[in-house]
Amino acid sequence: MRLILIGFGNVGKALLRSLIDKRNPLNRLGLRPRIVAVLDRGGGAVDPDGLDPAELLRTDEREGTVAAAPEVGQFGLSPLTAIKEVEAEIVLELTTTNPDTGEPGISHVEAALRNGRHVITTNKGPPALAMRTLQNLAELNNVEFRFSGTVGGGTPILEFVKQIAKVDILSLKAILNGTTNYILTQMYDFEASIEEALKKAQRLGYAEKDPSLDIYGIDSALKLTIISNYALDQEIALNEIHVTGINDVTLEEVRRYKRKGQKLKLVCSIDKEATVSPQPIEASQPICVDGSLNSVQLETRYTGKVTLIGPGAGGYPTASAIINDLLALEGKEQGAKRVLTTEMAGIRVN
Ligand code: HSE
Repeated sequence: MRLILIGFGNVGKALLRSLIDKRNPLNRLGLRPRIVAVLDRGGGAVDPDGLDPAELLRTDEREGTVAAAPEVGQFGLSPLTAIKEVEAEIVLELTTTNPDTGEPGISHVEAALRNGRHVITTNKGPPALAMRTLQNLAELNNVEFRFSGTVGGGTPILEFVKQIAKVDILSLKAILNGTTNYILTQMYDFEASIEEALKKAQRLGYAEKDPSLDIYGIDSALKLTIISNYALDQEIALNEIHVTGINDVTLEEVRRYKRKGQKLKLVCSIDKEATVSPQPIEASQPICVDGSLNSVQLETRYTGKVTLIGPGAGGYPTASAIINDLLALEGKEQGAKRVLTTEMAGIRVN
């Protein structure tokens, strides 16, 4: 499989480091993705025979852009040109989320799908603002549009919710933003201020490029939109969610709940309506996770409460979601080949 990477931030770099690591599941299965183009703000690097990930990481570290890579670098190369002109099966759209327009992510995804390339994205804009359009476009072009890494980082929240949603769901409650959960934990454990804790979350690579998206609850709302539209089949628009961030949470409030055995968390919920807001949760509840962890709790008529917990932010967990999507794509290709061979051999599979 040949890959084009659009965006070379925290997640893109973690992905390359994961691919270099011989223990990654793609390597173990003998699947060696060939990275034929990497684009960043300065331009890109292109090599149809495959770029050297270690060399790209070194160039980026030294020069601040992969466009400075000797022989393969091209200053000013645009993502849309690379998507249209570089031969590849898969485009990884890893640019930062724009919650207002979804751009430039949506245009990148559209161009890739129209050119018959599968798309894997960790950018929340395209699936939150244009999921149905992009899914239809993918179907029309016989390719896939995958976005596991947009919710839950390395924790497969979307597939978990989709699976449970086959049963009768009564309610969904979740903690979907690693940065704010990390900040609230720092406030609870160490009486840190929001500002201090945010700086740490940024250093750890949890926060958005514009961290106000985390603090004001927008990132959580984008994720709740994706869950609702993808996994619950309940069409909802971002602006229909009632959102309150953690910007006004005070240490006094955190202390007050602590005395009652509760922790203040930025809770996303879908009940009669969809909301994101700081709420106290009993510290003993499974959903009440700390640090950058995410959790989702579904209540169904027959099972009661079912909870999934896992790392929800950071380069490596998110890169692992991309690797899962790559494995799923590869599995489908292999499946298609198998069906073809069986059909060609005149064997009927019941
Ligand atoms: N800023 C996001 C978070 C990154 O803190 O959860 C993962 O989507």
